[in-house]
Amino acid sequence: TNLDFASMLKYWPLFLKGTVSTIEFTIGAVIIGVILGILAAFMKMSRIKVISFIGKAYIEIIRGTPALVQLFIIYFGISQVLNLNIPKFYAAVFALGINSGAYVAEIIRAGIEAVDRGQMEAARSLGMPHGMAMRYIIMPQAIKNILPALGNEFIVLLKESSIVSVIGASDLMRQQEIISSVTYRPFEPLIVIAMIYFVMTLFLSKLMGMFERRLKAGDVR
Ligand code: ARG
Repeated sequence: TNLDFASMLKYWPLFLKGTVSTIEFTIGAVIIGVILGILAAFMKMSRIKVISFIGKAYIEIIRGTPALVQLFIIYFGISQVLNLNIPKFYAAVFALGINSGAYVAEIIRAGIEAVDRGQMEAARSLGMPHGMAMRYIIMPQAIKNILPALGNEFIVLLKESSIVSVIGASDLMRQQEIISSVTYRPFEPLIVIAMIYFVMTLFLSKLMGMFERRLKAGDVR
């Protein structure tokens, strides 16, 4: 065969650069996603119709269209309409963050709704106002459903961030394209980045596993 992984060694700075920026894209997107997700979840659950509608519309539209199309709308579309150049990094982080927010909103809503109704009823019948019951009874239980699912979203975003390479943002996938084109060897750099992505997601899922066992430890009686 003509495999030559040794030839990849000298490109380690590019692989490293790509890995670091993939991590940056992911963390940036997770932060924006969690903020938007919390907002959208509570908006959707609001009793005020307009607010609830806006929350629902955001969640449905984002989940009903491809992340790649959203990225293009933000990078190419908005640039045209506002006649300005959005830096690739920001376009990428915002697109991923806005995309993630809709999924995070559903994670939060599902986490809250999964708490047994009797918990709210019991709290209310003891005289707790709704807000207080939400804060001290429902949320502490909902968190146990929400955190593991958020960890999962983190992993999804790490992988999904590879789409930013299509606008030329310099993530790990993009570095692979550069290395492939200068070496005329796509296979080796692809396998290398696949391994790097895999190690990162494996690390995250191990971390989540440890964390979940800790959360569960509190349930034993
Ligand atoms: N790849 C799919 C899409 O294009 C799923 C995106 C999932 N994103 C997320 N943050 N969970 O829409």
